[in-house]
Amino acid sequence: MSILKKKKISDPEQSFTAQRRLLLGPNSSFYIQEAYNTLRTNIRFAIPGEGCKRLCLTSGLASEGKSTTILNLAISFAETGSKVLLIDGDMRRPSQARLLIEKASPGLSNILAGLCDVEEAIRKGVRPNLDVLFAGEVPPNPLELLGNARMKQLIDTMSEHYDYILVDTPPVSIVSDACEVANVTDGVLFLVRQNETEKDAVIRGVKQLELSNSRLLGFVLNGIIDEGGKGYKYRYRYRYRYKYRSKYAYVATNKKSSSAKSEAANSNKTKGGK
Ligand SMILES: Nc1ncnc2c1ncn2[C@@H]1O[C@H](COP(=O)(O)OP(=O)(O)OP(=O)(O)O)[C@@H](O)[C@H]1O
Ligand SMILES: [Mg+2]
Repeated sequence: MSILKKKKISDPEQSFTAQRRLLLGPNSSFYIQEAYNTLRTNIRFAIPGEGCKRLCLTSGLASEGKSTTILNLAISFAETGSKVLLIDGDMRRPSQARLLIEKASPGLSNILAGLCDVEEAIRKGVRPNLDVLFAGEVPPNPLELLGNARMKQLIDTMSEHYDYILVDTPPVSIVSDACEVANVTDGVLFLVRQNETEKDAVIRGVKQLELSNSRLLGFVLNGIIDEGGKGYKYRYRYRYRYKYRSKYAYVATNKKSSSAKSEAANSNKTKGGK
């Protein structure tokens, strides 16, 4: 397989502008829509039973696509008519407010610190059927706040108003915030990014979740790199890759890579759960 180098855009605001192009919308390709439809269906089966389904998404390391994926998943559920609450539970590097071009405060940290009411903090109708609780002010003690009884209370209360509650979290191999969130939800999805995620980080992360008795619902594979597929699938992947070329440029470092024409395909698939 070719070795690829990734050039990242360094300016954070420019990077968020590019990231916003990855969000699900009317112009998203059939291929991306389908990837999220599949993920949605798998989640429905992974959490059986009536009532609100609550889940969080984590990954081993930083920048693997958690925030983009959970926001798209929330949009995807909301598009089906379900009432969805997205919570930015990453109070260390919050990104949902910047992705949606909204103010981050007041938000989760303010509620958990007892500084404001839920009603005051939840941003209603950010998209049709989608409400968002942004991260709030960056607190000095996020882990402590998430482990507080107020977090469970918040999820339980909100479960009466929503069909889905989705929580973004920081990388579990680095900090334990996701374990705290997993314990007050129905389970956790583990995101893996093709050609980037390190095996050790996944092993460490899964162990960490097991130690905290979290329920691992399954894995999400992000950023599939097409090494030259054919036919129907290839067509959609090709179109999709092209669309987001502005985000990353991939530079081949050996000869083989030019034939592979590998660029990041922006897609997500679920793999079997535990
Ligand atoms: N499938 C994808 N294809 C191309 N770029 C992607 C894909 N998924 C995410 N990205 C890009 O990767 C970067 C990191 O994404 P994101 O912020 O969603 O990751 P994260 O795991 O939430 O990061 P952090 O650990 O810092 O919270 C962003 O610039 C985003 O646009
Ligand atoms: Mg994030």
